[in-house]
Amino acid sequence: MLKVTNVGKAYGKFTALENINLEVADGEFLAVMGPSGSGKSTLINVLGLLDQSYTGEYLLEGKNYKDVNDNELSQIRGDQLGFVFQNFKLLTTYNVYENIEIPLIYSKKKQSKKHEMVEDVIEKVGLTGKEKNRPSELSGGQQQRVAIARAIVNRPKLIIADEPTGALDSKTSKEIMEIFTKLNEAGTTIIMVTHDSEVAEYAMRTVYIRDGRLYNDEKSVKNHD
Ligand SMILES: Nc1ncnc2c1ncn2[C@@H]1O[C@H](COP(=O)(O)OP(=O)(O)OP(=O)(O)O)[C@@H](O)[C@H]1O
Ligand SMILES: [Mg+2]
Repeated sequence: MLKVTNVGKAYGKFTALENINLEVADGEFLAVMGPSGSGKSTLINVLGLLDQSYTGEYLLEGKNYKDVNDNELSQIRGDQLGFVFQNFKLLTTYNVYENIEIPLIYSKKKQSKKHEMVEDVIEKVGLTGKEKNRPSELSGGQQQRVAIARAIVNRPKLIIADEPTGALDSKTSKEIMEIFTKLNEAGTTIIMVTHDSEVAEYAMRTVYIRDGRLYNDEKSVKNHD
């Protein structure tokens, strides 16, 4: 799915990422852990093509997107990637259906096909019947389900999630992780940042970041022997 070779990132004199090497295979579910300020969001912003000002090489499905213009980049992000964030980032004046439909607005698909795709993901995340609710009329877990539905409506190959359960209690976190697990079992590659080791257990592999450097867990080190 992706390959990161010797990637670095600086904010002025401050080194946020240093010599990062990482490969993620198709169908993997990877957790990224590490202390606050260690560079986790910085790294997944590079992986999600949200930040192009890094050094080293990043290949997504074998392609280098470093010199691609912003229009093309947004298109690639829209077609291939799904993003889920800690604070959901839903549009407050849109209802559940409209929020989930956003990634399809510019798609050339027929209206009936779009409707089918939106209803399909609403069912997948367990929000049937809530289509007309505004985000403020939902629980935190339900809001995160909307964000997940919005991230997967375009059927992306890769989901990038930054602390998707950070704002949720442990029972709701479990429900959200069950949705991620199902998506992964259906073939979607997932990269998820989390502070919570219980949440990380849902992943197949965990890597750790400290002070901008990446460390593999024991298991994956063994697997690479
Ligand atoms: N725009 C910026 N300008 C300068 N420094 C930045 C900028 N963005 C992030 N940093 C610094 O880079 C480091 C890594 O930040 P990053 O957001 O990746 O951390 P994180 O691991 O995601 O932390 P958290 O768990 O708190 O979200 C931090 O020390 C932060 O202060
Ligand atoms: Mg972060």
